[in-house]
Amino acid sequence: MSPAFIPRPDIIPVAWGWFQFLLLLTFPLHLLAMNAMLGGLALGVYQHFRGGATALRLAHRIAVLLPLTIAFAVNFGVAPLLFSQVLYGHFFYVSSILMGAFWLAVIPILILAYYGAYLYDFRFAKLGGIGRWLALVVLCMLLVIGYFFSNNMLLMLLTERFAGYFEQMDGTMLASADPTFLPRYLHMMLGALAVGGLFVALTGRYRADRDPELAALARDAGMSTFFWTTVLNTLFGLWFLLAQPREVMLMFMGRNMPATICFTLALLLVVGVLIAAWRRKIWLTIWHTVAIVYLMAFMRAWMRSEYLREVFNLGQLQVVTEYSPMLFFFAVLVFGIGCIVWMLQKTREALAAE
Ligand code: HEM
Repeated sequence: MSPAFIPRPDIIPVAWGWFQFLLLLTFPLHLLAMNAMLGGLALGVYQHFRGGATALRLAHRIAVLLPLTIAFAVNFGVAPLLFSQVLYGHFFYVSSILMGAFWLAVIPILILAYYGAYLYDFRFAKLGGIGRWLALVVLCMLLVIGYFFSNNMLLMLLTERFAGYFEQMDGTMLASADPTFLPRYLHMMLGALAVGGLFVALTGRYRADRDPELAALARDAGMSTFFWTTVLNTLFGLWFLLAQPREVMLMFMGRNMPATICFTLALLLVVGVLIAAWRRKIWLTIWHTVAIVYLMAFMRAWMRSEYLREVFNLGQLQVVTEYSPMLFFFAVLVFGIGCIVWMLQKTREALAAE
């Protein structure tokens, strides 16, 4: 494909490593929050359909937490959105235009899902049996949003498709026919279900003394979901890797040493996390999972640069040094983290006082 279809990148104010560092710091936070939201809701819907007094109480607790997890997923999405735009905007904007009709649809779908989540939470008792259908619709909307994100993140890498704009100018191009799409999306969504299970197991803990039945159900349902979906996801991850173009796959098999070490470490941690989950050690499972999600995000970044290698590398970005926006960003970041810690404390107090 002619590089003429790739716009010129913007000038950046500090070396690209800063933006890559911040992208890789913040993107896993978005993934973890998104997983708690999506996977947690999937478990809630299952419990709601299953019925029974304890299952219903668990579904209610998940419903109460849902607007909170959506807020975290969305807000933790903003930071990586900014950093990937700075580094890869000239690819990301193109793919966003190519699939513009679907990409713009993400906003109304998200707003509707958010409304639905509040309705499910505030009217849980009044809605009765209808509530579970509402929750299922919200879950489907979130799955559709994830589907569009995976499409955009892949389409931006398929630069040979960019010229296709002239045959398809209505913004409906997707990357889902690519052989790597299905394993990518399934790997992401199954990961969400696994982490959602962990999140549910954790939420059960906060009322363990007052409602031991709920705590036991949350732990058993959450941890076994985590365990089995992670076993399955190891296979999906392998499928995802094998579906990659040869050069990308070989990177993790010795051709790029840091990438290979990262992959090996992630595999060892997967063994550790499965043992921890089998033994129902929630915190040990959580720390392993956080480490795995970070390592997978690093691997995803290597993959992206390998996909784009022939047309772009980050070293080509032109720097005109201007430190003040970054310093301001760090100041706001520290303030923001302080606010989040404060909010979490208040939420915990409110939940404990209920
Ligand atoms: C609430 C519903 C959302 C879901 C289910 C969701 C899901 C996902 C998924 C599955 C991916 C990975 C795609 C892939 O690589 O295959 C992703 C990436 C991403 N999401 Fe979200 N997302 C949601 C909302 C948002 C929002 C509202 C934002 C921005 C404000 C956002 C920002 C991002 C960014 C920037 C990436 C890619 C980061 C990178 O370039 O490395 N997400 N999301």
